[in-house]
Amino acid sequence: PEAPVIAVDGPTASGKGTIAERVAASLGWRYLDSGALYRIVALEALRAGIDTADGPALAALAQGLAPRFEGRRILVGGEDVTEAIRAEEVGIAASRLATQPLLRAALLALQRRARAAPGLVADGRDMGTVVFPDAILKVYLTASVESRAARRHKQLMEKGFSATIADLSKDLAERDARDMQRAEAPLKPAEGALVLDSTHLSIDETVDAVLGAYRRRV
Ligand code: C5P
Repeated sequence: PEAPVIAVDGPTASGKGTIAERVAASLGWRYLDSGALYRIVALEALRAGIDTADGPALAALAQGLAPRFEGRRILVGGEDVTEAIRAEEVGIAASRLATQPLLRAALLALQRRARAAPGLVADGRDMGTVVFPDAILKVYLTASVESRAARRHKQLMEKGFSATIADLSKDLAERDARDMQRAEAPLKPAEGALVLDSTHLSIDETVDAVLGAYRRRV
């Protein structure tokens, strides 16, 4: 049988990455940050002047990239892009090009290849609905726009980027709308997903809720 997957989906800045990484560490499983793949394509497309609506060109670009995940660092063609892909403009471009079905198809195999024993925790928008529909546990992690904007603000400040909470709230709301309304793999809770609102939960409480749900399933 294939290695088990825990899928963690949810809107931008809901804390999916932190929670998924900690759940993976606690189980000793691998971790896949699928958003990073969309961000890598966005960064390279911005650099190459490829339009975020040009599906065929984006798919070709994605097929030619061979990102390497080394611990917390992400390398593309020998360049460390860990910080560059976190810029707000890259996230916005990523959410635009993520509406392209050809690009999503090109990234599908790459994501499925991350599945390996003893297990994988994958975070994104369509982990439970499209990429790993047979996940043993599907989590839909959400939080209020205000608390997500405040978290994203803190993260960006720590990384040396500047932004205002008001601009971030507006960007988040636009990205949520784009991710939820697109025809291809829209963001929504997978069937049977555990829906967790982390607005009033600490990181530890959220991680424990996911681990508890997993243990009840095995
Ligand atoms: O999660 P993150 O903000 O890094 O993802 C960047 C963008 O990539 C998201 O706004 C979303 O539009 C897109 N994405 C996606 N499907 C995924 C992961 C990310 O469409 N599985």
